[in-house]
Amino acid sequence: MAPNSFRTPGVAVLIGSASGIGKATALAYARNGARGLVLADLDKPGVQRTAVQARQEASHKEFAVLALHVDVRDYASVEHVFEKAVKEFGRIDYSVTAAGIFKAHGSLADNPLDLYDNIQETNAKGVLHHTKAAIRVMLKQEPLVVQDVDRTRVVGRGAIVNICSIAGLVSVPGYIEYVASKFAAVGITKTAANEYGSSQIRINAVCPGAIETPLLERVVALTPEARTAFANGASLKRIGDVEEVADAILFLTSNAGSFVHGSSMTVDGGYVNNGPI
Ligand SMILES: NC(=O)c1ccc[n+]([C@@H]2O[C@H](COP(=O)([O-])OP(=O)(O)OC[C@H]3O[C@@H](n4cnc5c(N)ncnc54)[C@H](O)[C@@H]3O)[C@@H](O)[C@H]2O)c1
Repeated sequence: MAPNSFRTPGVAVLIGSASGIGKATALAYARNGARGLVLADLDKPGVQRTAVQARQEASHKEFAVLALHVDVRDYASVEHVFEKAVKEFGRIDYSVTAAGIFKAHGSLADNPLDLYDNIQETNAKGVLHHTKAAIRVMLKQEPLVVQDVDRTRVVGRGAIVNICSIAGLVSVPGYIEYVASKFAAVGITKTAANEYGSSQIRINAVCPGAIETPLLERVVALTPEARTAFANGASLKRIGDVEEVADAILFLTSNAGSFVHGSSMTVDGGYVNNGPI
């Protein structure tokens, strides 16, 4: 028998999987043996392209994938994704949202007031909607027990990961509305974890530092010096790759992450750990 490893043989819902971290995570699940994927995004053609690639890269011989439109700002839209997932696959083992937006860089004195609500709608309320809809499905499922090489593991009714940010853990000058939305997302994730741990639903936040994605490109387009500043702010002195975040998400939802719950895992090259010089 092979040694213990990160196994993700179940069904994953991935919201925000047309691009960046969400797309890389969808492909990682497909390669790592997931039986099914439910991919959803505001960008439906984009998520359909992810589905085509996932089919090509999947290792499960009965792999199946759905590609759906979703707007995380609308709870009914999110709930619809979960209804389709349960209808197609019967249960959901892993549920991840990477849907998020970044808007305008500026100072509090100058930024338009509606920027706050605008960012909260996607980055905070979207995480609340995802977590609520996933929990409502997982509560109805039987907890799973898996046999590892050396032990029996209770992996629970399901595992939820919300992609938050280091901007949900520390201040980032110039990004005050984004920071507020990510602190809210971390708070929602941690409180839901506290509420539903006893129901055997594992819930964690992943907090990336600067990662090479279209979103980071949009940040750099507005403030070209941001790329070097973010790279230098990390102890590892570089920007991260999407696969490095996807691996952390797979770990958290896998059998190997069975006792990790309520955490806000940084995947940031040491950015948050770096104190002021
Ligand atoms: N890239 C980074 O440096 C970085 C760092 C920290 C945190 N994050 C966070 O990681 C997450 C993923 O970011 P990314 O860099 O991969 O960005 P990205 O722009 O490449 O992907 C984000 C995806 O979310 C989707 N989306 C946006 N609004 C949506 C909505 N209302 N409903 C459904 N889908 C929606 C987009 O269509 C897109 O496919 C975001 O929450 C972001 O804030 C990114």
